[in-house]
Amino acid sequence: MPLVPMRQMLDEAARGGYGVGAFNVNNMEQIQAIMEAATATKSPVIVQASRGARKYSNDRFLYHLMLAAAELYPDIPMALHQDHGNSFETCKSAIELGFTSVMIDGSLEADGKTPSSFEYNVEVTRRTVEYAHERGVSVEGEIGTLGGIEDGHGAGGTGLEHLTDPDQAVEFVEKTGVDALAVAIGTSHGAYKFSVKPTEDVLKISLIEEVNRRLPNTHLVMHGSSSVPQELREIINQYGGKLKPAWGVPVEEIQRGIAHGVRKVNVDTDNRLAITGAIRKVFVESPEKFDPRDYLKPARAAMQEVVEKRMKAFGQAGHAGDYAAKSLEEMTAYYK
Ligand code: G3H
Ligand code: 13P
Ligand code: ZN
Repeated sequence: MPLVPMRQMLDEAARGGYGVGAFNVNNMEQIQAIMEAATATKSPVIVQASRGARKYSNDRFLYHLMLAAAELYPDIPMALHQDHGNSFETCKSAIELGFTSVMIDGSLEADGKTPSSFEYNVEVTRRTVEYAHERGVSVEGEIGTLGGIEDGHGAGGTGLEHLTDPDQAVEFVEKTGVDALAVAIGTSHGAYKFSVKPTEDVLKISLIEEVNRRLPNTHLVMHGSSSVPQELREIINQYGGKLKPAWGVPVEEIQRGIAHGVRKVNVDTDNRLAITGAIRKVFVESPEKFDPRDYLKPARAAMQEVVEKRMKAFGQAGHAGDYAAKSLEEMTAYYK
């Protein structure tokens, strides 16, 4: 199927009352794992690339792999999304490349680390929306700031420092016209989100409920939504890894979010854990092997298993056949 505008996908998800997983990719095996999972579960899917992913892969390689996926899986609606665009220029280049959706993360300054002012966030987001919507491309903004990731994109800290203010969320959506809004509810990127099973004092699903009450027609986005399953951590450690114990976001909490307007659920870390565990296992159990396929195949299968589980849990499974892709031209007309 041609690439689908993310707005269309999230509108459909809202109609059906489900969430859509947005999975990060850096290479061919990750894209294949997602597309096989989407096929097995008949799911629409958002495939997203961070700035780091675009740099790592040289984004034209990545883009053409995604076009191959769209060609090879004609029955799967697939949106192509820039994750955490740090500036207007980053989003513009993603749109020029052919992405059907961008996130402008103006909650941080262009360095991807320093929490920004509300005014800065509104301005850079509004400018990106104007440029993107003229071209039919969807836009996700963020209000409040996630924790985690000191060396990549993120403000660091626990995730509780810059929670979303519902009043600001309403003003932000009115002033920018974003298609989707990422909210900060206490999650952070990476494998160390919470030291114990999170309860409402650190994982504020009630904040999603409040924002959803005030903005019932805005698609909400949960970042930092990996569950960090203990069994994936244990496989890594069993085969020589050194991951400290930690909790992620339990799937049932994500489902509570989905019941209150969350339509896009970002997952990267769980897939990284699955891949790493599978590769470590081969290295330890079969040290004589040196063909990359011997460890990339089980890595790809391990990621597929995680993605399938999330697709079923988020409710997107079974919805691949619900609609045909709108063109970007149709979306441009819609925004006008
Ligand atoms: O935003 C966080 C995602 O996990 C992407 O991470 O910037 O290391 O590619 P990355
Ligand atoms: P995780 O680190 O929890 O997988 O979050 C990914 C994410 O939010 C990407 O934008
Ligand atoms: Zn994120």
